[in-house]
Amino acid sequence: MSEAIGKTGEPFMRKLIAGNWKMNGLKADLQTFEKILTGVEAGNDAALPLICPPVTMIMSMTALSADSSGQVKVGGQDCHTGVTGAHTGDISADMLANAGASYVIVGHSERRTDHNETNSLIAQKADAAIKAGLVAIICIGESLEIRNTGATEEFVLEQLAASIPADCKTESVVIAYEPIWAIGTGLTASTEQIAEVHGAIRKALIKRFGEEGATVPILYGGSMKPGNAASILAVENVNGGLIGGASLNAEDFLSIYRSAL
Ligand code: PGA
Repeated sequence: MSEAIGKTGEPFMRKLIAGNWKMNGLKADLQTFEKILTGVEAGNDAALPLICPPVTMIMSMTALSADSSGQVKVGGQDCHTGVTGAHTGDISADMLANAGASYVIVGHSERRTDHNETNSLIAQKADAAIKAGLVAIICIGESLEIRNTGATEEFVLEQLAASIPADCKTESVVIAYEPIWAIGTGLTASTEQIAEVHGAIRKALIKRFGEEGATVPILYGGSMKPGNAASILAVENVNGGLIGGASLNAEDFLSIYRSAL
């Protein structure tokens, strides 16, 4: 489970620094993961590193992580709503857990776009993930069009409400706020914009879960890199980062990880 992240009574002891490798990673790239393992070997109580590679790499990574004194969690990038069955090409949350994953990203904007994923499907995926013992990282975020019309907060909160499964425990959920216009573009939301949206998400979580809503980690994602990580991670209600491009480079990922120390 999510260790010290977001547990009631000990909120945010560690920032979650999550790498999303997307559709990148061949066997040779296990070297990058090994470098990350070596870099975190000293261990720390301020940040929890996680890498979400393509599913083909999960078992190798969990084995490497288990053999190392480094502490790097491994996660999936998506899961099916079911446990087993006739769903060619799909991967269930139970399979991810069985391969050693402890987290899974659901509802990333690229899946919402590429696979027409809806909030209700994402809630079902998150539910399946939690039932499999994984922590679900639920992604939300607005397009530039929505931001330009001034409807960001309303849109993001609607996604939040509809993408979290009913009756879920707060310790099994992480929210990732990723403005679509900042993903892979080099554009980053300003710290004011991040503070505003994260503050609204926090309020909505408290409204939904009561005081336990204060313990759900909220990650920022969208062109986070070594040069901006420290200032973003210092923003109120930013409890970690979801990092795409920069997580493919061990030095960059480790630099972001160290920004959280
Ligand atoms: P990026 O991706 O860091 O490359 O912008 C973030 C994400 O999509 O999770």
